[in-house]
Amino acid sequence: AAQRARDAIGALTRSVADFPTTGVIFRDLTPVLADAEGFAAVVEALSEGFEVDAVAGIDARGFLLGGAIAHRLGVGVVAVRKTGKLPPPVLACTYDLEYGTATLEIPASALDLDGARVLIIDDVLATGGTIAATASLLAQAGAAVAGTAVVLELDGLGGRAAVESALPEGAAIRA
Ligand code: PRP
Ligand code: MG
Repeated sequence: AAQRARDAIGALTRSVADFPTTGVIFRDLTPVLADAEGFAAVVEALSEGFEVDAVAGIDARGFLLGGAIAHRLGVGVVAVRKTGKLPPPVLACTYDLEYGTATLEIPASALDLDGARVLIIDDVLATGGTIAATASLLAQAGAAVAGTAVVLELDGLGGRAAVESALPEGAAIRA
């Protein structure tokens, strides 16, 4: 599955120069997820070997993968939302972006994540801020983060190190 996923990512990812800002090469995974075999391979590769109690999918592109991976693993899915989408009470984690900050939230009381092993899913790992904030939210909820898996890791932004220091010792990082 990992090799099929790599092939699909290599063949179908669209690279767009100077988006969203000059000098940045945007990697658009939309065609990979829209392809039946590509989507299946990626979902399988990111799921393989994980034994968890829940999957957390990150708003918005992590939702597509998170739901499918949770289904494959036979567990439920938790949507980690951008701020302003969920009614109170919420658990929130604010983190720094290149310009400004962002906040992610999960329900504070509606979920029973205490002691649950959770796999964090997103499409892309860049600086790692998004996944680190998600790990902090899940820790606030009493969950044990088992690992994180993403389709694409961007090099040179320190994302892997940021995620390593945010996840518990021994948690898996798959890209
Ligand atoms: C992108 C991407 C990851 C995040 C990675 O999401 O989908 O979630 O950035 O960046 P980081 O590792 O530097 O935190 P974005 O916030 O652009 O929103 P979207 O998923 O809603 O498109
Ligand atoms: Mg995102």
